[in-house]
Amino acid sequence: MGAKTIIEPFRIKSVEPIRQTTREERQKLLEAAGYNLFLIPSEHILIDLLTDSGTNAMSTEQWAAMMRGDESYAGSPSFTRFRESIQAIMGYKHVIPTHQGRAAERILFEVMCKKGDVVPNNTHFDTTRANCEFVGAEAVDLPIPEALRPSVQHPFKGNMDTAGLEALIGRVGAKQVPLAMLTVTNNSGGGQPVSMRNVKEVKQICSRHGIPLYIDACRFAENAYFIKLREAGYSKKTPREIAREMFQNADGCTMSAKKDGLANIGGFLCTNDDSLAQQEENLLILTEGFPTYGGLAGRDLEAIAVGLNEGLHEDYLNYRIASTAYLGNHIAAEGVPIVQPPGGHAIYIDARAFLPHVPPRHFPGVALAAELYLEGGIRSVEIGTLMFGKRDEKGSEWAAPMDLLRLAIPRRVYTQSHIDYVVEVILAVWRRRNEIRGLKLTYQAPFLRHFTARLKPMGNTGPNV
Ligand SMILES: Cc1ncc(COP(=O)(O)O)c(C=O)c1O
Repeated sequence: MGAKTIIEPFRIKSVEPIRQTTREERQKLLEAAGYNLFLIPSEHILIDLLTDSGTNAMSTEQWAAMMRGDESYAGSPSFTRFRESIQAIMGYKHVIPTHQGRAAERILFEVMCKKGDVVPNNTHFDTTRANCEFVGAEAVDLPIPEALRPSVQHPFKGNMDTAGLEALIGRVGAKQVPLAMLTVTNNSGGGQPVSMRNVKEVKQICSRHGIPLYIDACRFAENAYFIKLREAGYSKKTPREIAREMFQNADGCTMSAKKDGLANIGGFLCTNDDSLAQQEENLLILTEGFPTYGGLAGRDLEAIAVGLNEGLHEDYLNYRIASTAYLGNHIAAEGVPIVQPPGGHAIYIDARAFLPHVPPRHFPGVALAAELYLEGGIRSVEIGTLMFGKRDEKGSEWAAPMDLLRLAIPRRVYTQSHIDYVVEVILAVWRRRNEIRGLKLTYQAPFLRHFTARLKPMGNTGPNV
């Protein structure tokens, strides 16, 4: 049958009730949380779009595999299945399990980088940047210029600026660049994909200078599917074949299995280099665990082994990419400014364009997040001036380059009617956008302030500036 409707490619066997709250309750909860949605207990959230990380729904096969989990300290067959599943997809010689992605990053940078080194990436995710800087290296972002312009359409907005990479290597010298990275899809840049052509061009530049290339592979399956849909020559290939080709053009990868591993926890580090792998395993033993479990339970290794394969199923990816685009396209059609085109795992609303009367120092992204919660119990997250801005010694706010609001879609969790509800709530807030006030800080921590900051609305009187 040639039906056009893209359905959720699963049926529901176990349900998790979600609780409706009244607007009055939500108003009180918001005030108690200082208008910071991180501080609202999740039982008071109706639709939670805070993150797609670790929030996946697992399949019957994953739950069944968990029962097979062998919890032996050393040499567990669960590790063998985990390694085989990863090697079949990614093809790397060494597979090092970690409790999540950032542990793989910490080990990678500790082994490969030293003070004064420079690590280019299309865009470093915040934990990647932090781990790179922790060993004294400089994390340099090299997105293509289109990535910084939310309304501009580009099929591969996650690409690295290859001329920028050449220039950087020319400026600092290849000896100062122990590795380069490509984040697929580019999370910080809006979940935008990287083309195969870009992967190959970056690899060629790196090879010419003797620099290894690592892939931050969190959303590798979504990236592979975008290549299938958008890049010439790939429409007949399977996502698995495309993923394999991507990984063949790199020397290793870091992975958070909490994304395209369709698991709730876990990660790994891969490399083809025997000597690096040995040093990495030694560090692993120090802080994560023995190399056949690396901080994970045997049952987690099993869930990931199965989840990685399910994440490459074409009907799943078709539904996944279509359902994220469904949300983006429905709100954009009514004029809501979003980062275009819709990404793989999230929709980013341009909060500065949504609330042009709220200046960055009054946190338009946080104000919008609070309104979506108040209107319909939806949790989203600001990626803007609260997260990345700073206050100087005189107390003035520095704005982040953009004020975005991210709506991240957990995998296999919400149905189309949930997303229709989200669309309705966003449009209700859009219609009354002129009444929305900015916020001011009442408390901020010295670092990573967005997690614990407390804010209150600007007064009713006087200009909202
Ligand atoms: C692109 C990217 N890299 C790395 C990480 C870190 O992974 P984890 O949260 O498992 O430590 C994330 C998590 O969101 C991510 O999106």
